[in-house]
Amino acid sequence: MTTSQASQANRRAMLDRLAELDAALDQARAGGGEKYVTRHHGRGKLLARERVELLLDRDSPFLELSPVAGWDTDFPVGGSVVTGIGVVEGVECLLIANDPTVRGGAVNPISLAKTRRAGDIALANRLPMVNLVESGGADLPSQADIFIPGGRVFRDLTRLSAARIPTVSVVFGNATAGGAYVPGMSDYTIMVRDRAKVFLAGPPLVKMATGEVTDDESLGGATMHATRSGLADYLAVDERDGLRLARQVIRRLNWRKQGPPPRTSVPAPPVYDPEDLLDVPSADLKVPFDPREVLARVLDGSEFDEFKPAYGTALVTGWGELHGYPVGVLANARGVLFSEEAQKAAQFIQLANAADTPLVFLQNTTGYMVGAEYEQGGIIKHGALMINAVSNSTVPHLTVNLGASYGAGNYGMCGRAYEPRFLFSWPNAKSAVMGPAQLAGTLSIVARQAALARGREYDEDSDAAMRMMVEQQIESQSGALFLSGKLYDDGVIDPRDTRTVLGLCLSAVHNGPISGADGFGVFRM
Ligand code: COA
Repeated sequence: MTTSQASQANRRAMLDRLAELDAALDQARAGGGEKYVTRHHGRGKLLARERVELLLDRDSPFLELSPVAGWDTDFPVGGSVVTGIGVVEGVECLLIANDPTVRGGAVNPISLAKTRRAGDIALANRLPMVNLVESGGADLPSQADIFIPGGRVFRDLTRLSAARIPTVSVVFGNATAGGAYVPGMSDYTIMVRDRAKVFLAGPPLVKMATGEVTDDESLGGATMHATRSGLADYLAVDERDGLRLARQVIRRLNWRKQGPPPRTSVPAPPVYDPEDLLDVPSADLKVPFDPREVLARVLDGSEFDEFKPAYGTALVTGWGELHGYPVGVLANARGVLFSEEAQKAAQFIQLANAADTPLVFLQNTTGYMVGAEYEQGGIIKHGALMINAVSNSTVPHLTVNLGASYGAGNYGMCGRAYEPRFLFSWPNAKSAVMGPAQLAGTLSIVARQAALARGREYDEDSDAAMRMMVEQQIESQSGALFLSGKLYDDGVIDPRDTRTVLGLCLSAVHNGPISGADGFGVFRM
């Protein structure tokens, strides 16, 4: 194949993956489906995404988080909540909006995982949080999976407050039982008149518990809370007024970002066209690509000052700026990480910490090199150096999986368990303990040895069937949508949006201080 034929094939494969992503996003945007959307509008109410849009500054971007969470599970794509980062009165806020068209906005395990992740992001990056509340509380059939872990949502709210990160709730409808603690634990609470209902128990349960006969409004109406209980700080006349009041509250927060401003307010766009990014990765993850092709379409002015370019060449390290923010970049160039790459990474991460510079990890790795020569050369201790540096580094980390993320390479390159501030995947990306063929082959060798040890004959036909089944299973569990469905990233993104997404994340992380580590664990030399 010529280079241009290969590029065209790559583009076609990527466009297919993007079409799958679009289909999943359409499912998320459809919420509970036409019937419930029509009913909701018919009641004169706004949808979750409409509430978000009206709250945000006009024409400002919204970085939706985990939009396809729940993909390929028993729950609706996106759960029953919309989360993301958007700008309100010039302040970047973490927004959480219940979707009342999905089973009354009841919280299922997917919505809970999204909400918890949103809480972590708000705390780590010092983002004021706005909850747009309308939820039937716990999704009762899945209560066993959400009741106990779900308590953390309320604890998170008050911990944000204690960290001087403001929390605001606007209640548009039902907020029953545990849900009542969302406005209860928020710094500021706004309730919509004749619509908000905030009580520990509704009239039927009260009658069951105490015999008292009462009504919704006396138990938890907005007017009652604004005039009697004091739970509502502001009484809105309707939904739009509630959103106006939320903007008013944010305007008066006197919010100041703690990180340094970008070095330039008019950053130079990349010289190379981001459109080309669709041509770069092959559908076959075994075909490597040069991450400099990506950096040339992501960094300001396509400028990248490479560090140690001639050493450990399977890992590219270097400095650049992204939307005016300085960054250090670590990017896999040829899949495997050797001892030299691991040592280079550990040194580079220390340099970034010494300079308070955020780090961007571009993953495309099949893991650390295996084999007697490499074990004897100390690949474990060198990988440990890199993992120590990544684990104890305190500058913000942003990770994008551009292709492969396998084995301990996922850890060294700041995978999910290493808590990057944000992690996104390209639609072609895959991640697993190892590739499907390697995993199935390993299982086969182990089973063959076990049979031989017991003196039994090995059944080649069932071995072949087992390998095929395992390969298919691992293949389907390694894909970007599957992993995003499990919230192992913050979203699958169009490669062409990489610069924009990273820019939004860098701006968000600068709400908090940017400060390198004073020390690391003991480096094994
Ligand atoms: N768990 C599971 N499913 C729920 C649910 C919950 N907490 N709340 C609502 N649903 C389901 C309903 O069964 C209904 O399903 P269906 O359309 O397949 O029949 C769908 O969500 C819509 O509910 P509906 O009552 O028609 O919507 P509504 O907008 O008129 O009212 C509520 C919404 C939330 C006010 C109302 O459903 C309600 O009171 N739910 C129970 C609230 C509660 O007591 N929760 C306990 C919290 S611990």
